[in-house]
Amino acid sequence: MDDLKIAIAGVGTVGNGVLVLLKKNRKKIENKIGKKIKITAIASRKSRDFTSFKKTKIFSDANSFLNFSDYDLLIELIGGSDGIAKEIVIDALKKKKNVITANKALISKHGNFILKLAHSQKVFVGYEASVAGGIPIITIINNFLVSNTIKKISGILNGTSNYILSKMLETKKNFKTILNDAKAHGYAESDPSFDINGMDTAHKLSIMSSISFNNKIDLEKVFVSGIEDIQYTDLKYADELGFRIKLLGLTKIVRSKVMQFVYPSLVNKKSLLGNVDNVFNGIIIETDSSKKFFFQGEGAGALPTATSVLSDLERISLTNYSKQNYQNTKTLTMKDYFKIDERYGSYYFRIKTFDVAGVIADISKILKKFNISIKTLYQKDNTEKNNNEVNIVITTHNCEEKNVRKAINLINNLDSTKERVVIYRVEIT
Ligand SMILES: NC(=O)c1ccc[n+]([C@@H]2O[C@H](COP(=O)([O-])OP(=O)(O)OC[C@H]3O[C@@H](n4cnc5c(N)ncnc54)[C@H](OP(=O)(O)O)[C@@H]3O)[C@@H](O)[C@H]2O)c1
Repeated sequence: MDDLKIAIAGVGTVGNGVLVLLKKNRKKIENKIGKKIKITAIASRKSRDFTSFKKTKIFSDANSFLNFSDYDLLIELIGGSDGIAKEIVIDALKKKKNVITANKALISKHGNFILKLAHSQKVFVGYEASVAGGIPIITIINNFLVSNTIKKISGILNGTSNYILSKMLETKKNFKTILNDAKAHGYAESDPSFDINGMDTAHKLSIMSSISFNNKIDLEKVFVSGIEDIQYTDLKYADELGFRIKLLGLTKIVRSKVMQFVYPSLVNKKSLLGNVDNVFNGIIIETDSSKKFFFQGEGAGALPTATSVLSDLERISLTNYSKQNYQNTKTLTMKDYFKIDERYGSYYFRIKTFDVAGVIADISKILKKFNISIKTLYQKDNTEKNNNEVNIVITTHNCEEKNVRKAINLINNLDSTKERVVIYRVEIT
């Protein structure tokens, strides 16, 4: 058997998982890929016990990889869109080495360049683990669905935000309390900004969208709105109306334009995505052959993500590495992007007002002016405060986003409106 020399950069959560699986199932992997695995180098910033890696060079900084070439494959598990992760990946490709990375930030920002370089160098870049951890969604889109035309992808792609939304509804606690609880349980990182502001979902969506619709990976063209302002009140009212609120990533082609939206959205609580709770991820792919290919699983965690990382090894074992790349940047066709203002769909509004005569008439008049037709309307007393305030909760029939904005501006300016109107989009998934 030939050797496959591997250099691993970063031994944190995922890096540890990779080392565990390589140790536990090495023989099985070697038989499958037809190569003998040799870990020639590990870069680990923290000092760890590497005594069992007798023939492996241990570096305290991945920087050292820039002057190291005794490997066929770099596994990059440091993270970050720029800095050392980007440097060692590009350096490896320039040295005609294959690369596997779990780094969605890197691929969503520099994927086009990295893939182009990989093609020109005739090497492979695998990034299965960059989207949805333990769900092999890149392989599904790229290989399993080769015979289908993808119509739409709707996904819950971030476990941390899904945990927060699920727990807030379950425990009636506010966002901050549950976020701290998520950190304590290890479901949220110490800096969870990208999880809750939607950027992590946007990273993953831009990668999936590109493979599905043959557009450039273009993070800038993703409309992103996160869950940081979510209130228990809206989760509760949505529940009473038969919905859950989920942070969704949505991509499809609309009138020859690529749509890439990330926002918290109401989904039917009996739907597939409505039932994906806690740290789980769920993805629906609609194609010309099936209305709902549905995948659910652990979107993160050491071993599920390491499984994803090492699934890319199989491609390395094949002869023509560059042909195994998930995308050929030369053949990209889609160029135009669908804007959020062009959205046509249903909406949820919560309007906190004084409970005085004529309020509903004023609101209805504004909605009528902008061609927004009410589907359901109900009024809830603010019983806790008993201060003459009410919440008016409206869902609409399909209407245009740009009209919704104009109408909500006017409603915000009504004397009777107490707080800025809360708006969520409603999605049928
Ligand atoms: N965690 C998940 O479940 C998950 C799921 C899917 C994808 N990913 C992706 O996988 C990648 C790794 O994530 P992770 O959760 O494993 O992160 P992590 O636990 O923070 O691990 C990253 C490791 O890289 C080390 N590192 C940083 N700079 C280094 C350098 N210059 N040289 C050597 N080591 C260095 C860090 O050391 P220090 O500890 O000293 O900072 C840390 O141990 C990221 O791209 C992430 O987006 C993670």
